[in-house]
Amino acid sequence: MSEKIILTGDRPTGRLHIGHYVGSLRRRVELQNAGDYKQMFVFIADAQALTDNIDNPEKVRQNVIEVALDYLSVGLDPSKVTLFIQSQIPELTELSFYYMNMVTVQRLQRNPTVKNEMIQRGFHVGEEGENDNQRGLPVGFFTYPISQAADITAFRATTVPVGEDQKPMLEQCNEIVRRFNSIYGPVLVEPDIMLPDNAACLRLPGTDGKAKMSKSLGNCIYLSDTAEEVKAKVRGMFTDPNHLQVSDPGKVEGNPVFTYLDAFCKPEHFDLFGDCFHGKKSSFDFHNLDEVKAQYRAGGLGDVMVKNFLERILNAELDPIRARRKEFEKDIPAVYEILRKGCEQARAAAGATLADVRKAMKIDYFNDTDLIREQAAKYAAL
Ligand code: TRP
Repeated sequence: MSEKIILTGDRPTGRLHIGHYVGSLRRRVELQNAGDYKQMFVFIADAQALTDNIDNPEKVRQNVIEVALDYLSVGLDPSKVTLFIQSQIPELTELSFYYMNMVTVQRLQRNPTVKNEMIQRGFHVGEEGENDNQRGLPVGFFTYPISQAADITAFRATTVPVGEDQKPMLEQCNEIVRRFNSIYGPVLVEPDIMLPDNAACLRLPGTDGKAKMSKSLGNCIYLSDTAEEVKAKVRGMFTDPNHLQVSDPGKVEGNPVFTYLDAFCKPEHFDLFGDCFHGKKSSFDFHNLDEVKAQYRAGGLGDVMVKNFLERILNAELDPIRARRKEFEKDIPAVYEILRKGCEQARAAAGATLADVRKAMKIDYFNDTDLIREQAAKYAAL
């Protein structure tokens, strides 16, 4: 069996959307089903979500169950994957505390993802951050890359499937691992990042064409949206603003309808939904996405047809996800039980690593019989 240990997680700050799906969730289910791993962990990063939501615990609590339902509905299977909640694993906090001494403030300040997130949230460093109109920077938020290194190393993860924005976290994690191992010996494992292989999946734009799907921009298609909601959202999608008449040539680049097609369209969709391109005024027989794009660029292909095609594809992909969600929603206590069991397994795994860490750091006083004997001998000889 493969020695791979796969680990990844999400902050529970909202329901998961199709950007999460193509960026990571779909890949996780494929990895799970391929079975080429020793262990696989997927977790809900509630403690990380609290680093910038400390005054909003109810939001985090509500979204823990939403994310759990999203996980189960996309097909993550608790008999194959350990699903757990970060805050229930106190070993992670302890590891973070030790790792804090292996990272400088200056290094954290250079982390580009943290930098961007600080700007987005209006967090300021320095004394001026204490003013009324500026928010000071919470220490926990600033140091979350360290806690993320604990998440990864506690489970000896070798493979971390995440989006591109998480690259700086993995780099910091590996620096911590190398520093730790060079001081205390080879205890921790350096993980590899696993990025989505398709460029459209790397960062799916919002329905408004903006660079990222985000709840605050209201440009998301959620996994739990109804078929009608998906239809309405696709109808209202931003396309090429200069494609006014059907006969006008259209732009494919930067047109989110085509980015979504790049992320979701499969060859069989032309047999299944090719009739979307059969209209009264114009009719096309496309066999692949390149033909659709070529016609759109040339002119004569209207947005409505392309959007209908996309809507059918999205709903075909989301239908089984919604059906599974409905089933799990009928038995919420069972969902919490899955998480509880997952937390138990996760604690055992993290506990084993923590024991090695304590031993390597020479803070395992009561387990070290030699230590007590040596100290006793030393004082007896005085
Ligand atoms: N930072 C990740 C996100 O924002 C969530 C996360 C926390 C994570 N710890 C992790 C991802 C460890 C991978 C590995 O979605």
